[in-house]
Amino acid sequence: MINEQLENLRKEALTEIKKIKDSDTFKKLKIKYLGRKGQLSLILRDLKKFAQAERPKMGSLANEIKEEITKAFEHLEKSVKKNLGKTTSYDITLPAKRMLLGHLHPLSQIETELEDLMVSLGFKIIDGPELESDYYNFIAVNVPLAHPARDMQDTFFVEDYKFSNQDKELEEQYRLVLRTQTSATQVRCIEQFGAPLRVISHGRVFRYEATDARHETTFDQLEGLMIDKEISVVNLIAYLKIIVRQLFNREIKLRVRPGYFPFVEPGMEVDLECLICQGRGCPVCKKTGWVEMLGCGLVHPNVIKAGGLDPAKWSGFAFGIGITRLAMIKFGINDIRLFNNGDLRFINQF
Ligand code: DAH
Repeated sequence: MINEQLENLRKEALTEIKKIKDSDTFKKLKIKYLGRKGQLSLILRDLKKFAQAERPKMGSLANEIKEEITKAFEHLEKSVKKNLGKTTSYDITLPAKRMLLGHLHPLSQIETELEDLMVSLGFKIIDGPELESDYYNFIAVNVPLAHPARDMQDTFFVEDYKFSNQDKELEEQYRLVLRTQTSATQVRCIEQFGAPLRVISHGRVFRYEATDARHETTFDQLEGLMIDKEISVVNLIAYLKIIVRQLFNREIKLRVRPGYFPFVEPGMEVDLECLICQGRGCPVCKKTGWVEMLGCGLVHPNVIKAGGLDPAKWSGFAFGIGITRLAMIKFGINDIRLFNNGDLRFINQF
């Protein structure tokens, strides 16, 4: 009886294996025949019911069949693997898969536009690390350890990456922070390229902010730095006017007022006429008609010195544009949190 059962199983399994066309059936059949609760196991379980003398014979038959079925599965698997990728024919009349084309994020759009413009004006594009030393982020740009100006930028300090040294002050200088400003690239550039120098650098900066429609912990800035002989505020404002004209394709009113930034002297803040209300006053410009766009000024002698140059010989200007803020004005976006939240309904509008 059991012999017959086993022989039937062999026949059935082998014919079924031959017909396998997909991996699901492959898996199912393997379980059906060879699984712990598979047909072979079920038959073998009944073996106990037979006389001692008959068991070895049946057992060896069962093993033989098990081996044969296992080999049939293995053989199939090998031949599938061998032929994988060797499609012999395909239907060229089938419609092609639709290719989805992406596009630049609104922040990247502004950044690439400004890159093109600044390169045409002779500026080099450089990049700086987002994980930056306290030294380049603060000390080199004239914000010494424990200087009150540090309060202007709530900082993420990176505890695990402390540079360990006996000298407490040295250790503090080289502890790492998430850069709070692209100004961190200024002294890196002066050290690397010397003068005369024209560079821009843009990317993400980070601040420990409570988030709301106007504040985010991560936003984008673009830094510009020019070092040369006899640079004055006139040069600075001329460049800023070119930048704004390029970005908005027309003349836009600028307002320049004094502002404190440790790395420039004199320091200035530049406002744009509010494009949402055309200067009449609205919630975006807090009813002033002006929107803050950037900080700038003439490079502080201490920064020039930190880069290894002689401030008696060289002067320069620097500016830092809040690209995210600018994108909000340019595209009329009223919530800064939309930029980085990955919602395609937002991104696809640009
Ligand atoms: N780093 C400043 C900030 O994040 C912006 C800035 C102001 C950059 C004045 C400059 C500058 O280069 O000259 O608030």
